[in-house]
Amino acid sequence: MSSDYFMDRSGWTPDELDLWEPIKISKEEIDEEIDRLASQPRPSNGRRHSLIVHPRWQELGVGPGLNPGVRVTLEVLLPGEETTPIRHNSTQINFCILGSGATIVGGNRVNYTQYDTWNFPSMTTYRHINDSDQIHARLCYSNAPMLEKLNVHIVEDDAPEMSLRTVDGGCEAADKPLYNRSDKIVPLGDEGALLMPYEILVNPEPVENKSLHWPWAGVESELEKLGSLDKNYRGRRLYMMYNPATGRHNGITPNFFATITIRPGGIVDRPHRHTSSAINYYFAGSGYSVVDKKRYEWKAGDLMLSAPGWGVHNHASYDDTVYELTVQDQPLMIYMESLLWQENLKEPWRLLGSENGFETNADELTKAS
Ligand SMILES: [Fe+2]
Repeated sequence: MSSDYFMDRSGWTPDELDLWEPIKISKEEIDEEIDRLASQPRPSNGRRHSLIVHPRWQELGVGPGLNPGVRVTLEVLLPGEETTPIRHNSTQINFCILGSGATIVGGNRVNYTQYDTWNFPSMTTYRHINDSDQIHARLCYSNAPMLEKLNVHIVEDDAPEMSLRTVDGGCEAADKPLYNRSDKIVPLGDEGALLMPYEILVNPEPVENKSLHWPWAGVESELEKLGSLDKNYRGRRLYMMYNPATGRHNGITPNFFATITIRPGGIVDRPHRHTSSAINYYFAGSGYSVVDKKRYEWKAGDLMLSAPGWGVHNHASYDDTVYELTVQDQPLMIYMESLLWQENLKEPWRLLGSENGFETNADELTKAS
């Protein structure tokens, strides 16, 4: 008699990946949804927002999300409105697409305007304020779908205005360890295996993660310098908005990187692929992407699931300069040793973060000029 608790997988081999196809949410659709959210009565928590979801999200039992691990939310506030405080163990990236406003996060105020980026750390209370005289709208990128899949997404509404006890903020346990940790660690064998006691399990080294702000004006002036790179440059003309708390995982949050690319007219990327998935928001110019041999047109104001993880893709600009915000779940992939990256389809993939990665021709071009 078979048991309810065993699934016989003898001889099983995995199916081919069934990638979610790219989808584009046009500027017109986003504008229409902003107008619709703005026309509704104010909800009791002040949070006028809609999730932007892929039609296939229910198939995998993940999400709702724009890809399996990323939730993108369109958030709107009318002049004079503010949201009630909230905190959660998901982390977020905020990107202002319309108007201006302020956020109170961990007791600090962030004043932002169009195309600014800022992050929310885990379990840090925040609220949004629109103290301007115009509607504002933000895109918010969250790792909530992954936590929901694990059934551990903790959300506290009306949370007290407080920040975490940080390394420098008076957490006694972190400031003054009760023991010398190295004395408590026991080597086992001579190949690096160690035994660690319970006191380290319940008191891992804390890393302070702050809300950081990348104003568009500052990012734009640095990007201008990349825009003039030689047209034969083989890398990407972008800056990653780096949060030092993410260490070697290169993130703005522990899950996501966020980059802003300047793409002068007529630039065509080489096809490549990576297990991190990419969501692009275009805010200047126009162009197209080819993803798994299918072509997608886009323009300023469009949001796209541009590359499902492991889908072969490249992007190209038409005549005008393109600016694009890209969010990928790359830091999580690096931590999990799961980031396969194939920069050139004629060469093998590499496991980034675990072996040497790729080089560009930036140095050659500098020497030649
Ligand atoms: Fe890519």
